[in-house]
Amino acid sequence: MRSLIDVTDFSVDELYSLIHTANDIIENPKKYAEACKGKKLATLFFEPSTRTRLSFEAAMLELGGSVLGFSEASSSSAAKGESIADTAKVVSCYADIIAMRSPIEGAALVASQNASVPVINAGDGGHCHPTQTLADLLTIYREKGGFDNLTIGYCGDLKYGRTVHSLLGAMSRYKNVKAVLISPKELSLPDYVKHDVLEKSGMEYQETASLEDAIPSLDVLYMTRIQRERFDDKDEYERLKDSYVLTVQKLQSAKENMCILHPLPRVNEISVKVDDDRRACYFKQALYGKYMRMALILKLLDEANANAVREDRFADKDIIYDTHKCSNPKCACASQQELRHACKRSENGILRCVYCDKEVR
Ligand code: CP
Repeated sequence: MRSLIDVTDFSVDELYSLIHTANDIIENPKKYAEACKGKKLATLFFEPSTRTRLSFEAAMLELGGSVLGFSEASSSSAAKGESIADTAKVVSCYADIIAMRSPIEGAALVASQNASVPVINAGDGGHCHPTQTLADLLTIYREKGGFDNLTIGYCGDLKYGRTVHSLLGAMSRYKNVKAVLISPKELSLPDYVKHDVLEKSGMEYQETASLEDAIPSLDVLYMTRIQRERFDDKDEYERLKDSYVLTVQKLQSAKENMCILHPLPRVNEISVKVDDDRRACYFKQALYGKYMRMALILKLLDEANANAVREDRFADKDIIYDTHKCSNPKCACASQQELRHACKRSENGILRCVYCDKEVR
């Protein structure tokens, strides 16, 4: 039985297979209308969401299944101090599959190690958001015809933007893909993503603070919101919040077939006037998210049916326990009393926490 914690849990072939299923659902929705009859999806959202939660729920309903869950931590027993592990064990008694969002980095991994049903990471703090990446991949595939030879600009909050971290991980596996990282210095891509994703894969990348300079070279522009809720220093957020605004004027120097993506929600980083430009694909991207989540639910339930044994991600003999402590206050290690500190040496020799991927010393 498998879970989806990080998009690289799936091979390139598996991602193509999900895209193929999603395309088939788009063409033949009736074929799938009872595919999950009798099955239940639990949506455990400890953080706000519009698209991810509702598209998961719509996905399960369109597959003929049912949904249950909560949309804020205060209405769950987490507010009384229940651990992620206990929550996962209990919800496994009521549902066949779980989609979970939490501000705690590594929360979905902890849940997957304790649930007896598949767990889908619907966003864990500033760490990963793999199902957003599934939506991004289907959009890029349908708009650009594939993934090789694309230059993608990632613009905005690359430090806290978990959708960027997950998309870079996915794109790092295709040929001749380039990344242009557009951010203020304070919000640049974390070193662990640079080392473990870009440098490890050999993906060509450049960093710039100028959207105007970058835009002419791009096949895809991935705009992101400055993530107010992740800033410890609110003055810094106020200083950086208007760093980038994509306007009709700035688009004049872009390729005619450039595709504009945004995981949404948007604050002010894309002018609403851009919505009428044929290159604006972000609302289509939100729709495609539902189809990819349908394909994902089908895959994980099929696999759980075939093999009910939980995948043990901690069976890896290279995991080192208790010798090094993760100091990330947002990591699951910091709030989940029962967790042992666990880290693993990455290929460049740096020790990283297995929950949040931050360097440990
Ligand atoms: N893109 C995304 O995750 O949106 P929500 O926060 O509304 O789920």
